[in-house]
Amino acid sequence: MRVLVTGAAGYIGSHTLIELLAGGHEICGLDNYVNSTPEALIRVASITGQDIACHEADIRDPAVLKNIFSEFRPEAVIHFAGLKAVGESNEKPLEYYDNNVTGTIELLRAMDHVACRRIVFSSSATVYGDAHYLPLDEDHPKAPMNPYGRTKYFIEHLLSDWAAASPDASSISLRYFNPVGAHASGTIGEDPNGPPNNILPFVSQVAVGRREKVAVFGNDYDTRDGTGLRDYIHVTDLARAHVAAVDHAFRTTGADAINVGRGEGATVLELIRSFEAATGRKIAYEITLRRQGDIAASIADASKAERLLGWRAGLDLADMCASAWAWQSANPNGYDAPR
Ligand code: NAD
Ligand code: WQD
Repeated sequence: MRVLVTGAAGYIGSHTLIELLAGGHEICGLDNYVNSTPEALIRVASITGQDIACHEADIRDPAVLKNIFSEFRPEAVIHFAGLKAVGESNEKPLEYYDNNVTGTIELLRAMDHVACRRIVFSSSATVYGDAHYLPLDEDHPKAPMNPYGRTKYFIEHLLSDWAAASPDASSISLRYFNPVGAHASGTIGEDPNGPPNNILPFVSQVAVGRREKVAVFGNDYDTRDGTGLRDYIHVTDLARAHVAAVDHAFRTTGADAINVGRGEGATVLELIRSFEAATGRKIAYEITLRRQGDIAASIADASKAERLLGWRAGLDLADMCASAWAWQSANPNGYDAPR
């Protein structure tokens, strides 16, 4: 199928291109490179042996979108493009609503222009907010606690209304838990702008000598060892879930939301120990105060993804840590290319 991928040069988008090509799909990318670099696409091309067509464009630009859609005529869209830093969203809420929500409205208008009726959207477990029970299933109450999470929640509703207006439309929102790791080749991976907000890229930057030590945000949570517990999922497993979701979108209509996680949790200290065991690198850390807005634990009930998509995660924490290190050790400064 012809699949258009927004945010194609990003962390998850670039990994998903590889799996889409492996699945025989024809792809076209779109990215404004606000948080990525074309270098990632050059490396995807070297991994796959296939050139990657990607337009430098902003999803908020209707004229450019119309040209791209009229030319490529996608049969489905995977929508990764978005701003994703929780802390930044508290400082710049309007930028997040404009980029993520307005951008999605313009994207859907472009889809309507060529009668493209299938979309897979990058949502987030952040829509759940504090856990009333674990593991989290898709019916858990939604109470996002920051502007970023609320953009995801609003877009899910936006997609539901869009799908309801067209009998042949299909919208699948994938609620990612904690994507980590990198492609097995070690040539593409997570390359955050500035000091990483997320734990594993920070740990790998300590391992490669770019950072002194990890600040472990609190050890007084109600978890096995007091540190935060999360459902980490290998980015390659997550990419494969998108291919399964695109296939599913051709079998169904209406809007749905599906968790993408492993259904297992690891604490911060367990993650650090797993990284040390997988890489032989010693990671210095210091217990500090909790990070504002953090929740104690988050674990996915991933049974719906297995039931509807025939997908389940196959890679474990050691694979995630080893692949993150393969990327970081080969690319100490990430893509080290101008953004
Ligand atoms: P990323 O920042 O690496 O990728 C997002 C891509 O979208 C970047 O290449 C960026 O340049 C592009 N982009 C942003 N705004 C754009 C715009 N207006 N027009 C065109 N391109 C634009 O992030 P990622 O980790 O790959 O995440 C991809 C998606 O998954 C995001 O929507 C994010 O919110 C969501 N998500 C990520 C995580 C995570 O932990 N990484 C978890 C849950 C959900
Ligand atoms: C994981 C654990 C921290 C950094 C975030 C976003 C979410 C999604 C995924 C986009 C927590 C602890 C972290 C550090 C630490 N992104 N930690 N020291 O917060 O679960 O989810 O990324 O959709 O929306 O909220 O991921 O990797 O930041 O934190 O101790 O330097 O590691 O307290 O327990 P999080 P994270």
